[in-house]
Amino acid sequence: MPIAMRLGPPAAIDQLVPFEEDPGRPGAGEVLVRMRGSSLNFHDYLVVTGRMPTAGGRIPLSDGAGEVVEVGALRGDEADPSMTFRVGEAVLGTFFRHWREGDPAQWKHGAVAGEHVDGYARQFAVVPVAALTRVPHGFSLAEAATLPCAGLVAWRALGCCGGIRPGDVVLVQGTGGVSVFALQFAKAMGATVVAISSSEGKLKRLRALGADHVIHYKAEPNWGRAARRWTGGRGVDHIVDVGGADFLNQSIEACRTGGSIALVGLLAGTAGRVDTGRIMAQQLRLQGVVVGSRTDQLEMIRAIESLGVRPVIDSSFQLQQLPAAFRHQEAGRHFGKIVVEI
Ligand SMILES: NC(=O)c1ccc[n+]([C@@H]2O[C@H](COP(=O)([O-])OP(=O)(O)OC[C@H]3O[C@@H](n4cnc5c(N)ncnc54)[C@H](OP(=O)(O)O)[C@@H]3O)[C@@H](O)[C@H]2O)c1
Repeated sequence: MPIAMRLGPPAAIDQLVPFEEDPGRPGAGEVLVRMRGSSLNFHDYLVVTGRMPTAGGRIPLSDGAGEVVEVGALRGDEADPSMTFRVGEAVLGTFFRHWREGDPAQWKHGAVAGEHVDGYARQFAVVPVAALTRVPHGFSLAEAATLPCAGLVAWRALGCCGGIRPGDVVLVQGTGGVSVFALQFAKAMGATVVAISSSEGKLKRLRALGADHVIHYKAEPNWGRAARRWTGGRGVDHIVDVGGADFLNQSIEACRTGGSIALVGLLAGTAGRVDTGRIMAQQLRLQGVVVGSRTDQLEMIRAIESLGVRPVIDSSFQLQQLPAAFRHQEAGRHFGKIVVEI
């Protein structure tokens, strides 16, 4: 019988345990996927530590890639070739199963794998074809599994929501999955990148990945002013902010008049004192960004193929080592993505 990893109850990293699961057969509009790779996101960490409550016994992990092993009955979406999968084809899950295309809406934010429905910490999964896309050409399935959450939010924070152009100065924060993708996308799109981190060793690695200027945000708490100074006083054009709360004030300080900030993370907390006066005076655009739609994922895949971006993989764990993978993430020493080979 195939293996899956189940979370508690209660939710805690130590409560992630393997169990034998009958994956079932695909119904109309579904396929059975032999999962091969997944990756860890901060969102998954919140789930497995109980800070994002889920139904007891949830199978975690929102990201997943694998191969189709059985195709269910046709349902009528088959006219869309991006939803027609053959046995043996490589597929990649989408973060929001209900957000296929268009603008965000509250109902489209439902059915997140690993949170509202069972996720991809398993060897087999029955998945609706509308919640799958192809994988980028030449990517391993573990590499592809780094994309649906961290890759897509970084892509949207720069692309459709950031509108960055070659020559723009982009600031990225930290060295987790989202920020390393943001650095890679921004460089590939012709931007100049300022990157900040809390570790000297990681700053060196950011430089090696193409960052044009780096700042240690613990040694330089007023890193916003330091970034502005580096641009000759003008400020950066666009920021991918993963800190939120009080951290956001430094982003406001760093940003040029008329610039933009994509708020994608809340590592520094969910509430804080934000300098609203400066947001107005500097005519900043502040845009919350949450992952993206299936159509956005297909656009990102095309862009990745043309830009030649490859994910930075920090480390790799086997499915049954999932608690160790989360402990590694919790320690915060990773650089880029932590993947799970299934
Ligand atoms: N909106 C969305 O759709 C979306 C999607 C994915 C993730 N997120 C959010 O984005 C954030 C990052 O996610 P991730 O998966 O990339 O996380 P991650 O891989 O765990 O990386 C977090 C990194 O951020 C840095 N960091 C830690 N504390 C920080 C703080 N207080 N302020 C700024 N940076 C800090 C650290 O880098 P250094 O060690 O280099 O300092 C750390 O390694 C999380 O808040 C997550 O929930 C949002």
